[in-house]
Amino acid sequence: MIEKSSIESLKTTLDIVDVIGSYIQLKKSGTNYKANCPFHGEKTPSFVVSSTKQIYHCFGCGVGGDAIKFVMEIEKLSYPEAVEKLASMTNFTLHYTQGNTDHSDTKRILEQCQKWYIKNIDQNPTAMAYLIGRGISHASIEKFGIGFAPSGNVVMEFLRQSLLPLPQALESGVIAKNERDEFYPRLVDRITFPIYGSLGSLVGFGGRTITNHPAKYINSPQTKLFNKSRLLYGYHLAKEKIYKTKQIIICEGYLDVVMLHQAGITEAVATMGTALTTDHLPLLKKGEPRIVLAYDGDKAGVTAALKAAQLLIAEGFDGGVVLFPDNMDPADLIASGESQKVMRLLREVKMLIPFVLEKQCDAYDLSNPRQKEIAFGEIKQFLSSLSPIMQEAYLPIASTLLGVSVKIFGFRNSQTKPSIQSVTPKDDVLILSLLKTLIEFPQRIDLVLDVLESEILGNYAELFSTIVHGKTEESNVIALSMDERYHAMEETEFKESLLRLLEVYYTQKSRTIHKDPNLSYAQKFHIKRKIQLDILPRLKRGEFVKPEL
Ligand code: GTP
Ligand code: MN
Repeated sequence: MIEKSSIESLKTTLDIVDVIGSYIQLKKSGTNYKANCPFHGEKTPSFVVSSTKQIYHCFGCGVGGDAIKFVMEIEKLSYPEAVEKLASMTNFTLHYTQGNTDHSDTKRILEQCQKWYIKNIDQNPTAMAYLIGRGISHASIEKFGIGFAPSGNVVMEFLRQSLLPLPQALESGVIAKNERDEFYPRLVDRITFPIYGSLGSLVGFGGRTITNHPAKYINSPQTKLFNKSRLLYGYHLAKEKIYKTKQIIICEGYLDVVMLHQAGITEAVATMGTALTTDHLPLLKKGEPRIVLAYDGDKAGVTAALKAAQLLIAEGFDGGVVLFPDNMDPADLIASGESQKVMRLLREVKMLIPFVLEKQCDAYDLSNPRQKEIAFGEIKQFLSSLSPIMQEAYLPIASTLLGVSVKIFGFRNSQTKPSIQSVTPKDDVLILSLLKTLIEFPQRIDLVLDVLESEILGNYAELFSTIVHGKTEESNVIALSMDERYHAMEETEFKESLLRLLEVYYTQKSRTIHKDPNLSYAQKFHIKRKIQLDILPRLKRGEFVKPEL
């Protein structure tokens, strides 16, 4: 049994926001956090987590309790199992009154092995030379706890001498059993990469051969502690930067993560030899970052990036893709002194939706009408899976890429709603001219960012964001800069147009605010007064107003 006092002290180290946040996406709402309840289907959040009270409650279905109760419910575990799970998630050592039916042995074994692997690096010149040869600094070796697993006999001898019980070592994934029922170490003559859970507890290892073994990498097997399709390598070290910069970079390999961090790009993580799947989503959604896929430019990398991009788009993520050229991956580039190039590539990502559209087109020979037809079908299906706004924003690119007219897609509204290639009402001309000005005078972007919420741009929000990110080679940006119906404006005209756009927006907002179901009467009243008595008069005087409603 777990000692009561031990559970009590575990409780004091837990933060319910971290615990629940590692399962579902929490949004800050006042002093609390909110989410769609994971225990009953709902579309608007009524699940509340209080960080001060350390409890959760769903106003929809009535469930509630503390962190342990949550883990019991969501993982379908008994009380002691949930306690053990939480202890392992947070690296907490539980004390038991008797017996040892817990994970503490497996955890202890992982940790002892890790200590020993690290020690081996210093004692093994070949392993050290390998790491240095790959451009890994001593600081990175230390930061990532990179180690070395020597020959099979030596590993088994270590386990014996340290009195680590073999059945538990088997459970921890450090050793395995062959057909003759003999134990053997999984990692032999390999550089070891410890793998941590998102809350920082050691759960397994990855190992790279330094003797050209045909299996270049070997990972710990799926164990009670280690679920490789849910975890991302390096996440615990990247977490803070991810929250801060609202960006996460996903690459393919352990070494990519190590080297990107070494180059200061510390929001990098990697999948562990598996594709990006829905299992990764809970982790990815934390902090709502945009997601950059940084994959090898080879065929496998492109295929993986395409699948991952489709998954991310379907889940509503913003982000982009970088494919590293010439058989180099981020690790290789950084090791050969090209960190600057890596940073440039990471800044110039291709956005997710255009990336998918391009790759779908690339897969076919569009000069052959039959193939073009198949590509068209595929792209049409992809576009129909998008929200109407996205659909409309990307329809022109799709039609340009395929070399077909927008009309042929037959989407409802595609002729009546404005797009760059169709008839545009007055506001659209104004917006597109403003955007065109920004392409030509990027130094004016700052002013626009200051005063304009992307909502004001309606259908053109996405295009605006592309321009803001300086992606002048995107086809929709090129299309606009070449479109003669819109002209880049001189400074005075630009400012006046921006004021006019804001005026139109706020006037409209003050007229329609009463319909907003998310606002109370008092809020509506306040906003309406603010617009009429403060914002509009200031705009009319030529003063730019920061959005703060
Ligand atoms: P280096 O050659 O050390 O630079 O490796 P890499 O990271 O560039 O390898 P690669 O791009 O070929 O593979 C990316 C990731 O896929 C690796 O980091 C591993 O997680 C995984 N992987 C590669 N080869 C194997 C393998 O043989 N077995 C398993 N299980 N995973 C592998
Ligand atoms: Mn690679």
